[in-house]
Amino acid sequence: MVRLAMLCNLIMCGIVGYICKHEASPILLDGLRRLEYRGYDSAGICLWNKDQFQILKKTGRVENLRKETLKHDHSGQAGISHTRWATHGGVSDENAHPHISWDNKLSMAHNGVIENFALIKRELEAKGVSFTSETDSEVLLNLIAFLYDAELKQNHATADVALLKALRGALSQVEGTYGIIMTCVDLPDLIIGARKGSPLVIGVGDEENFLASDVTAFAGRTKSVVYLDDGQVATVSGTDFFITTMDDVAISPTIDTISWDIEDAEMGSYPHFMLKEIFEQPMAIENSMRGRFSQDNSTAQFGGLNIAPRELRQIDRILFLGCGTAWHACLIAEYLIEKYARIPVEVEYASEFRYRNSPLDKNTLVFTISQSGETIDTLEAQREAQRKGYRVLGITNVVGSTIARENDGGVFQHSGPEIGVASTKAFSSQCHIAAMLSLYFARMRDMSFTDGKEIAKALKAAPGLIAQALSRADQIAEIAKKYAHHDDFLFLGRQMMFPIALEGALKLKEISYIHAEGYPSAEMKHGPIALISPDCPTVAIALKGEIFKKSLANIQEIRARKGPVIAITDAGKDFPEDLADEVIQLPETHEVNHAPLVSIPMQLLSYYIAVERKCDVDKPRNLAKSVTVE
Ligand code: F6R
Repeated sequence: MVRLAMLCNLIMCGIVGYICKHEASPILLDGLRRLEYRGYDSAGICLWNKDQFQILKKTGRVENLRKETLKHDHSGQAGISHTRWATHGGVSDENAHPHISWDNKLSMAHNGVIENFALIKRELEAKGVSFTSETDSEVLLNLIAFLYDAELKQNHATADVALLKALRGALSQVEGTYGIIMTCVDLPDLIIGARKGSPLVIGVGDEENFLASDVTAFAGRTKSVVYLDDGQVATVSGTDFFITTMDDVAISPTIDTISWDIEDAEMGSYPHFMLKEIFEQPMAIENSMRGRFSQDNSTAQFGGLNIAPRELRQIDRILFLGCGTAWHACLIAEYLIEKYARIPVEVEYASEFRYRNSPLDKNTLVFTISQSGETIDTLEAQREAQRKGYRVLGITNVVGSTIARENDGGVFQHSGPEIGVASTKAFSSQCHIAAMLSLYFARMRDMSFTDGKEIAKALKAAPGLIAQALSRADQIAEIAKKYAHHDDFLFLGRQMMFPIALEGALKLKEISYIHAEGYPSAEMKHGPIALISPDCPTVAIALKGEIFKKSLANIQEIRARKGPVIAITDAGKDFPEDLADEVIQLPETHEVNHAPLVSIPMQLLSYYIAVERKCDVDKPRNLAKSVTVE
């Protein structure tokens, strides 16, 4: 990991390539702007100027690059572009992509990590190749350029044959991951891409085509897409495209259609994507339920699990894997499935599972949860479980993502694009799907028809309840004003509300840069209570039910130590008036709706505190929307 950091390598960069009907630069810059949400610190573009490349690169925002681009003359109809996210240092114009090869023949943008770059670089330098950046990406590019030159000179190959041969030759020598696009001065009518471990997708337009890391880049221009698989190479012209394997075997492509509209990926009248996405939650939850209840309404149903009920009956255990917020959704699934379906559930961080080699019972069903479907830790954990022969199902938002394409079945969230880096609507929809799954598994086992009907009815009420919770936004904005200056927060919740406390703390940390910790309320006495002071507010969840009184007692302990308390409750008048400094009341509902419902005030509180602190809500420092290196 240290080595990776020192290499200034890339976490989740954006790639956009365009060819050919219109002037390329505005289209590429627009694509980069749409990919800003992925997180980046510099941007660059390679355009054609007469018969030569013109490369422009700028640290900072895409807007800086746009202004720079306006200063130059370039009316070319093809080009490639990139947003780069560096880890340590190395944020410079030189290290930004696209790179140009030492002989000025090739230009390339790369997402991923070339692990054996140092050795290759030494070998190339010994052969007279020079470098202008510190990146591993330039090493891959120069290796391709070196082999290309050899193909032309020694084998007298035509430029297209030579380039593809050089590309395959270079990719067979490198270790690591890549999603690359490149152009060649000898082949102005083509852009070429290849992937292994980093997503790449072709946008198939009307006399224009795209190669990008994410469909959002071209969503306004075409809805027809071809997702590349690992080990594939794409050759794209303005009117056509070809896909082959690394061994040059032709692949017949499947053209998919993006199901959402460009407006879904725009901010509309909201000041931030995060706020827009928080307010989209009634619809996201509604979409997660569409067509997913049986005709008699006593259970949920899922079209894509690809597993027969008879086989599911054999499952003894379920393992959920995910990262960050998605890991919190895994914890919600654990609670609900164990409680209602009585199937033992384990939850592991995907990153830990991959290297832990934990013993799994043979009748274990594995689930991965991932909004983006591209998180490398989750993807590799999924691959590891599949390698061992386990069936892996997924809960994923992005259709066509690598995790969704590689798993054995699963549930799509249909939440629409989530652009804000802090996950909101995707999380609540994952929790809701977990609740539907618990109903599905429970009805397959011991849950009665009547109980199933009651839960199905409760689940269907969720969008309306979430809308009610959203109506508290003004009150929460006021609370945020009062508490935004604090630098430490505690979040407490018990049982299923413990993961929600963890999620509340994570949201606050990531967008407000405030130190926050989530704990099970009763654990507070075992250490964290030492933190309680007038300077450390606690967000305490106290919902009615078995442990309501115990939660109130925990709040009392905080108050006795002069800790400010923001309580979230559904108890109405049963919540003692003077027990908390602030009380956010939520509607009372069945437990299966608690996770998404209680998440709403947590998300709003983090959002408004971040706004008060003038933080960049949608692009928090150091974070990327999906993390595609380990
Ligand atoms: C936090 C957040 C991250 C992601 C995590 C996994 O708001 O968004 O913690 O949840 O990086 O991402 P996905 O779900 O895309 O696998």
